[in-house]
Amino acid sequence: MRFGDGVVVSEPAVSTAAGKPTPALPPGFTFGVATSAHQIEGACDERGVSVWDTFARAGGIADGTTGDVACDHCHRMAEDVALLADLGVGAYRFSIAWPRVQPSRSTLNLAGCSFYDRLVDELLANDIAPLATLFHWDLPQDLQDAGGWMRRETAARFADYADAVASVLGDRVQQWITLNEPSVHTELGHMAGIHAPGVNVLPNLFPVVHHQMLAHGLAVAALRAHGNVPISIANSYGTPWPVGPDLTPGTASDADRAAALTYDAIHNRMYTDPILLGRYPDEAEYLTSGTIGDIILEGDMSTISTPIDALGVNYYNPTGVAASETEPLRYATPGIGGEWPRTAFDWPVIPDGLREMLVLLKDQYGDRLPPIWITENGCAADDQPGEDGTIRDDVRIDYLDQHLRAVAAAIDAGVDVRGYCVWSLLDNWEWAEGFSKRFGLVQVDFETQARVPKASYRWYRELISAAKRG
Ligand code: FCB
Repeated sequence: MRFGDGVVVSEPAVSTAAGKPTPALPPGFTFGVATSAHQIEGACDERGVSVWDTFARAGGIADGTTGDVACDHCHRMAEDVALLADLGVGAYRFSIAWPRVQPSRSTLNLAGCSFYDRLVDELLANDIAPLATLFHWDLPQDLQDAGGWMRRETAARFADYADAVASVLGDRVQQWITLNEPSVHTELGHMAGIHAPGVNVLPNLFPVVHHQMLAHGLAVAALRAHGNVPISIANSYGTPWPVGPDLTPGTASDADRAAALTYDAIHNRMYTDPILLGRYPDEAEYLTSGTIGDIILEGDMSTISTPIDALGVNYYNPTGVAASETEPLRYATPGIGGEWPRTAFDWPVIPDGLREMLVLLKDQYGDRLPPIWITENGCAADDQPGEDGTIRDDVRIDYLDQHLRAVAAAIDAGVDVRGYCVWSLLDNWEWAEGFSKRFGLVQVDFETQARVPKASYRWYRELISAAKRG
């Protein structure tokens, strides 16, 4: 089979995962892959401007690139869906670019809508369930100029946008995911300033949190008006690991353990408690220069805690947390020391942290926890072609294999996990890192746009097909 200019060569995978029994996931478990609009779509002149365009043009990206072309997916959609079909996935998580659907408030971009309309039809024609994320960080620039997530009105605008999307796709999308990782968008985009919009609003971060949570709740209502499609949110979960002065778990003190609980509240629970419990953790008060009560208006918490049907878990690694006297949020995230394998991002590879996080969620929320989908998990690797030109990304195969085993262990421990999406289908534009970090099951040559499946693609295809055979 030929994809673009690349040829799929059938090579057996040679990782340590090869030959091992398939991770024991229950019958009916869904295997999928995930992408996001700004990271793959390109076709930037066929949509409105987003905060990531502005941030990249202002020089915020490590390799100086922009997402203008990315994987040119908008113009190569049929080829990319053919890759999904050949892979055999049951679900594809993609995101919709808000500025492609609504370049400005008064306009609905029919061509933009029609792109997603065709994508969804193409997926369904190939028996792939479309899981659509409404917001994966690409806020329209005009909304940012008006105050972005600092402003309550942005939440109402998000509900209008959700309504517009659902009126086009609501009869065929099989799961809505309202927001992607509001914690990361808050922390890296509005505090650290290393993601778009590249600001630091401390000490008044809470409006950014609350208006995203409110946007989620208002969107749930808007989406429900179009039918009974399951709704979820994809949060980033970092398993809270206390670490000591040498950054290893073995040397953590009581103060470090307390700091880890604070981190859990600020990064994980801040975006889960309001939805599942109808309140913010007490630590929310740290995030505002006033009181949170001035920002939360009557009725907001019941809007935000409207029941959802699934919880999306994005997991990459635990977060090492040490006590700190100097950090603004009273915790530090120095990473984790010790002899872990590391991805090309230098993230430690700790698959059991995923099992631990899933069990922690079950312990924290009990019966209020809806079924879980792993909406992202994967690794950046230094993929080097072998002499025959194919990519033998054994590191990625081992990473995915071990994390799927961790999911199976969590299910054995009583956590209801329904599906798993590899991040990502394609090498793509990795935000502040530009094209330098490759996460794909499929290699993309960004000069020619040729797609060439890696060994991990063939491994995942075999795993899916073995699961289908039972
Ligand atoms: C997540 C993002 C996703 C991708 C991965 C590596 O935080 O949701 O878009 O960048 O990290």
